[in-house]
Amino acid sequence: MEFQKRILVTGGAGFIGSHLVRRLVKHYPAYLIVNLDKLTYAGNLENLSDVKEASNYRFEKIDVQSLEGIRNVFQRHAITDVIHLAAESHVDRSIDGPLEFVFTNVVGTVNLLEVARSFWLDSFENRVFHHVSTDEVYGSLGDTGFFTEATPYDPRSPYSASKASSDHFVRAYYHTYGLPVKISNCSNNYGSHHFPEKLIPLMIHNLLNEKPLPVYGNGSNIRDWLWVEDHASAIDVIFHKGKLGESYNVGGLNEWTNLDLVHYLCDLMDRKLGKPEGSSRALIHFVKDRAGHDYRYAIDARKLTEELGWKPSLRFEEGLERTVEWYLRHPEWVEQVTSGAYQAYYQKFYK
Ligand code: NAD
Ligand code: TYD
Repeated sequence: MEFQKRILVTGGAGFIGSHLVRRLVKHYPAYLIVNLDKLTYAGNLENLSDVKEASNYRFEKIDVQSLEGIRNVFQRHAITDVIHLAAESHVDRSIDGPLEFVFTNVVGTVNLLEVARSFWLDSFENRVFHHVSTDEVYGSLGDTGFFTEATPYDPRSPYSASKASSDHFVRAYYHTYGLPVKISNCSNNYGSHHFPEKLIPLMIHNLLNEKPLPVYGNGSNIRDWLWVEDHASAIDVIFHKGKLGESYNVGGLNEWTNLDLVHYLCDLMDRKLGKPEGSSRALIHFVKDRAGHDYRYAIDARKLTEELGWKPSLRFEEGLERTVEWYLRHPEWVEQVTSGAYQAYYQKFYK
């Protein structure tokens, strides 16, 4: 079949990537979707079991640190576009060992840019390199204000520094070589298939197992939460309609302190599990704060809303309910991803 586009999605076996791949495979039968993923601890092909047989889907187990591997995939699939999500994504892991974040997030991104530039050299027309980034590149807010696309970069963790660096390279390829790039910077995502090292799935997992709920510091840090499928729809809109060379902030206008969020999850879980009201809150355990813990993230997504017509589809309370129900229905998924290497990591951080 002659495909209209042949899109390389990197990191498609991860949390956000798998939701994006599913959406693209299902909504765009005329596109070939090639999922390139190294399958680290965070990548799980079970996330895509419902689309793995689709005629417009392919999987390639490749490390973005390998220039040769990427070249080979571009050649074999005649790639016309890239949506780049592959990354080391967890701040605590970046504090424990920053180098892998440099190799994957920075070098891996430059490898992809370099292959795209040389492979598309004849003409950049009808080509897009969409880089998926984070609001964490903007640093940390006080009690007021929002990140806009004009906010200066001020990353403060090894993770956000590696993402900021990759964003700079993407922009440099636009200005220097005219590579047709777009960048999106999104706030914290939540939803199904989320690895239980991040706040929401970790809390759900521990609540289900009656384990302590580790809240860093005093729980007053603030995050802006967006349902993962709304992030996937934003990437779809930006990829198709966003202007070349521009950035778009994506967020839910949905700020919560960590402690309020954990309280909400405890009460929701009490109702779902038929436990006495207030009993799960007893599991909350205040632990040592994260080093350099960013205080507040909050996104101004007006550019995306006003120029491209995107908006979130789901209220947070509804999204949390759906997320909790998904974890209740899929204990085998959690069991699988939390075995092995992850256990050792977990022991180290949450004794
Ligand atoms: P994730 O950790 O769940 O998934 C990352 C995926 O990348 C995994 O499938 C992993 O196997 C793959 N990967 C890691 N290293 C690789 C390598 N060297 N080569 C090939 N594949 C590799 O991450 P996520 O939460 O789905 O985040 C995806 C992207 O979105 C990241 O770029 C992240 O910075 C960005 N982002 C995440 C959030 C969030 O809240 N999770 C918010 C904004 C932006
Ligand atoms: P996280 O999900 O790691 O996302 P990020 O740090 O990229 O925003 O953490 C979200 C917030 O929750 C952050 O302020 C750190 C805090 N947190 C805890 O209090 N306890 C935990 O066990 C984890 C993983 C995070």
